[in-house]
Amino acid sequence: MKTLIKFPYKRLVIVAFRLPFKFIRKKDGIVASQNSGGLVSAVLSLSSKLIPVQNNPDNSKIVWIGEGKEINGKIINENAIPKNFELSPVNIPARINDQYYGGFCNDTIWPLFHYFPSLVTYDEKYFDAYLHANKLFYEQLKKVIQPGDFIWVHDYQLFLVPDMVRRDFPELPIGFFLHIPFPSYEIFRLMPKTWHNMILKGMLGADIVGFQTTDYARYFIRSVQKSLGLKIRRNLITIENRSVKATAFPIGIDFEKFNSACLTAAVKREKRKIKRNVRNMKLIFSVDRLDYTKGLVNRLRGIEYFLETYPEWNERVIFNLVVVPSRDTIERYKKMKKEIEATVGRINGKYSNISWRPIIYQYKSLSFSELVALYDVCNTGLITPLRDGMNLVSKEYIACQVENKGFLILSEMAGASAELKDAILINPFDYREMAEAIKMSLEMPVDEIERRLIRMQKRVQSYTVFKWASDIFKEAAQLRMSV
Ligand code: UDP
Ligand code: G6P
Repeated sequence: MKTLIKFPYKRLVIVAFRLPFKFIRKKDGIVASQNSGGLVSAVLSLSSKLIPVQNNPDNSKIVWIGEGKEINGKIINENAIPKNFELSPVNIPARINDQYYGGFCNDTIWPLFHYFPSLVTYDEKYFDAYLHANKLFYEQLKKVIQPGDFIWVHDYQLFLVPDMVRRDFPELPIGFFLHIPFPSYEIFRLMPKTWHNMILKGMLGADIVGFQTTDYARYFIRSVQKSLGLKIRRNLITIENRSVKATAFPIGIDFEKFNSACLTAAVKREKRKIKRNVRNMKLIFSVDRLDYTKGLVNRLRGIEYFLETYPEWNERVIFNLVVVPSRDTIERYKKMKKEIEATVGRINGKYSNISWRPIIYQYKSLSFSELVALYDVCNTGLITPLRDGMNLVSKEYIACQVENKGFLILSEMAGASAELKDAILINPFDYREMAEAIKMSLEMPVDEIERRLIRMQKRVQSYTVFKWASDIFKEAAQLRMSV
């Protein structure tokens, strides 16, 4: 399988809010552990696949700029960090970070871009902190930039950075990738004009602006047209005599890594453990970061309706909901966690008996082996975000249907639904439809499951995270050549 990525630049410089690892101080040193979320999973997996071209070993080097403090002390599990990585932390003062990360990122952009306008706070101080923090990232970037580098800026926390780079380094190739949805103009325009114009101009500092789906790319182009009145030909935008290409590059996964892991000894051990506990019942599994966009409370409503409507399934099915800790210092997230826990308690209280509890709820991170085992063993993956840029979990689930063939219920509000059309696609707000889909997935004939899975596996296997990155690098290089 051809998975190596030809990288036609000197070094790859990633700028993202999160570094790929967090560093936890323990008694005998510092432990590096991977940060959660799709962005980190995806970009981290590129590390082993960059191949040096032009006999330049620097070609495979990845410099990663992200929020954090200088690491002082010995990292015990140094091997967890790929050798070709150089981490470059940006220190954001706590006062700024509260209004930047807790404020503009997670109280303004995140709810607005995920279509929750009623949750948005518009606060001038938040925007000032956003501008300030973006400058801090850029200052750090400026210290590491070398001629020939490819600068790749990621996600909504750093919209203003591409333009900052462009002003000082007009010749540098720059890419920007948005991991979350770009909303329709009617939603985007709810933000004050000065902010939304700065965000669009910030993104247009890049040569190539990538989105998860063609819809998001179209919405962006429409917003540029409406707000900035720039000249646009199909997906090429002209700004200050430069061309910027805005297009979709749906992010993928390392299919082989997930698929082949299903038959490893460590994963088989995990699977045996799960099967022993689940006994002869059907297992329905979901894993999400703690986030209101993931639709956890709505999912619980669907589960409750299923238990109520189809009592013949009582004692024959277990729902395992894993919620990965995220943003739990933010008030809204703390509240939501309480609501999820109260709802799980209520449903379990109503339906459990001495030998069966319908919902197993876990608030924790999973190891890779645990995650793969659950994907493979479960009968149904229940992935029902209210809105999601892509949703890598659904693709990982498809890659892991190896030993036990299960089926996927996927929200049509996830970017992944544009590719995984053979899943049972549902509206996550409609709890009746969700309950029907659960029943349908449990009763689906094996040959139908296999037929639909094969088509989805083909898609996930052919458009991997490596293809995603290669396409972006190739496209950026071609754009440069055509100037
Ligand atoms: N994941 C994780 N820790 C876990 C379980 C899962 O980091 O304990 C990973 C999962 O494998 C996936 C990512 O988190 O790659 C979630 O990505 P997704 O696009 O589904 O959602 P996001 O969290 O980015 O909103
Ligand atoms: C999503 C976003 C990332 C973000 C991650 C975790 O995947 O696209 O940009 O880093 O969630 O959220 P956090 O707030 O912990 O960085």
